[in-house]
Amino acid sequence: MELLAILEQKKNAIFLLGGLKELEYRGYDSAGIAVLKEGEITAFKATGKLTNLARKVENFHSEGFGVGIGHTRWATHGKPTEANAHPHWGEFSYIIHNGIIENYKEIKDELLKDGVKFLSQTDTEVAVHLFEKNVRELKDCFKAFEKTIASLQGAYAILLISKKAPDVIFFAKNAVPLLLGKSASGEVYFSSSDAPLIGLVQEVVYLEDGEYGWAKNQEITLLNNHVPQHLDFKTLTHDKLSAQKDGYRYFMEKEIYEQSLVVGETLMGRIKDNSIILDELSSLDLAHIDAIKICACGTSYHAALSACYMFERLAKIRCNVEIASEFRYKEPLLDTKTLFIVISQSGETADTLEALKMAKQSGMRTLAICNVDNSSIVRTADMTILTRAGIEKGVASTKAFATQVITLWLLTLYVGEHKKSMDALTLQSEIAALLRVPLILKVSETTHEKIRRLSKRYLHGHGFFFIGRDIFYPLALEGALKLKEISYLHAEGYPAGEMKHGPIALADSELFTIALMPKNLLYDKMKSNVEELSARDSTLLVISPEPFELADDFIKTKPHTHMMGEFFEMMLITQLLALEISIRLGNDVDMPRNLAKSVTVE
Ligand code: F6R
Repeated sequence: MELLAILEQKKNAIFLLGGLKELEYRGYDSAGIAVLKEGEITAFKATGKLTNLARKVENFHSEGFGVGIGHTRWATHGKPTEANAHPHWGEFSYIIHNGIIENYKEIKDELLKDGVKFLSQTDTEVAVHLFEKNVRELKDCFKAFEKTIASLQGAYAILLISKKAPDVIFFAKNAVPLLLGKSASGEVYFSSSDAPLIGLVQEVVYLEDGEYGWAKNQEITLLNNHVPQHLDFKTLTHDKLSAQKDGYRYFMEKEIYEQSLVVGETLMGRIKDNSIILDELSSLDLAHIDAIKICACGTSYHAALSACYMFERLAKIRCNVEIASEFRYKEPLLDTKTLFIVISQSGETADTLEALKMAKQSGMRTLAICNVDNSSIVRTADMTILTRAGIEKGVASTKAFATQVITLWLLTLYVGEHKKSMDALTLQSEIAALLRVPLILKVSETTHEKIRRLSKRYLHGHGFFFIGRDIFYPLALEGALKLKEISYLHAEGYPAGEMKHGPIALADSELFTIALMPKNLLYDKMKSNVEELSARDSTLLVISPEPFELADDFIKTKPHTHMMGEFFEMMLITQLLALEISIRLGNDVDMPRNLAKSVTVE
């Protein structure tokens, strides 16, 4: 879900659509806009992609409108229908909203008693009717907005326009990102992300939880609990050029090919004279840290699991990993000698952000590994190491994962070095292996072509098992996640040694096993596990440097002296496999159904 608004005189509705296009990859099952011109509000909504909305707006002459709002939706309450698309409206006001209003049912019941008619099943609609009720009672839009916001519980970024205040945008933010910017000529913009504001404004204000207010003409009023707040403008820096497809069929494909480059950038300046330089951690006293806890979701969670193997094996420090949404409600025992790490590409994942806040409240030192500077997670954590993957547009995360694992590997070595739990020789050989990764991540056209050809065998069947052992188990989980999110085929990642404890019952020729068989780690153990599956007729795709006679398909990897060399080459192969299967199935690779790039709801 994303939202955007402008307060100015010159642009038209097409301009709003352009801004939403920048955000569409983050959530996209329906979209809508509303513009206020000469005291009248006109709204358009459409299900599906933005192009459907653009078609509806085509003949609308909106030049010179004063205030406009636009939204792309990722459904939380109510199906992705046109009625549920934003904006929602009452008699004279229109609203767009990201997040979830948790007490919407209570508010709705009250409004129903007053005879209010609802047009949608969303939680959002209650806010606009409540606002109008308050306007009728208080005869003042500003007081009415304050009263409305005070009644809402949950997570929200809200933008509201009203015929009763024709040159005003009302806004409110709690637990969901919202920022505002002002151009040199005084135009005011709001957005849930900085991407659409690049090129329009030089500076932005990242609003804090509990803040709300209104922009009227060129004046912005920012309040928190009725108290005026200072507008803390920060420079907006981003390179918009990095988000073009550059001749690739999909952003995901481009991002897979970019991995060599961005991993190089992630390493840049962080290794010097066989030592790890992480200035970001200068305030961290590792003498007081005896364990690490990591929280994350999805792909970032898989990076966390991989890190856990590295922290314990190399830095000899206890590590434990939790899914952020599980961590939040389990009443975890937290202690201040544990370093709390969150991993997030977007820096906005609601569950990860809340987990981070819990850790902070308990007095733990917190570190974010994140790809987006100035994101909510970065602003909340005590320390941040940025992953430098650049803007990732494909919903299926690829280069963000690669840079997360690289950053965590760097961090492992930093901890080992500073805690003196790793000897100099190991550190040296690990650094040498790290520095080889950019080369390993260069995509070989021959391998890509082979994967393209063999992918046609894997378009049906009753399911996929990606199997691996040790650190290749999280990689198996990640391979399966990539495949299922863009192919809609059922896939599971499994520890290879665990198959015989149940899942092997599924094995037959219609079960596809993707076996990650590195030479540097437990090769013989893996071999036995794969043989067990082959004996039960599972169709086998083996990824290994060593030919495997029982394999139906075989992708030969290069010989590597370090298991992480094999890890990254196999990561590349599983990403390309998911990509090619998805393309053959005719799916929308970059914007797969039901998903959103930035999950700002819990
Ligand atoms: C999968 C994917 C998601 C994200 C997850 C967490 O390809 O991208 O599983 O990893 O939603 O997002 P971040 O890393 O932004 O916190």
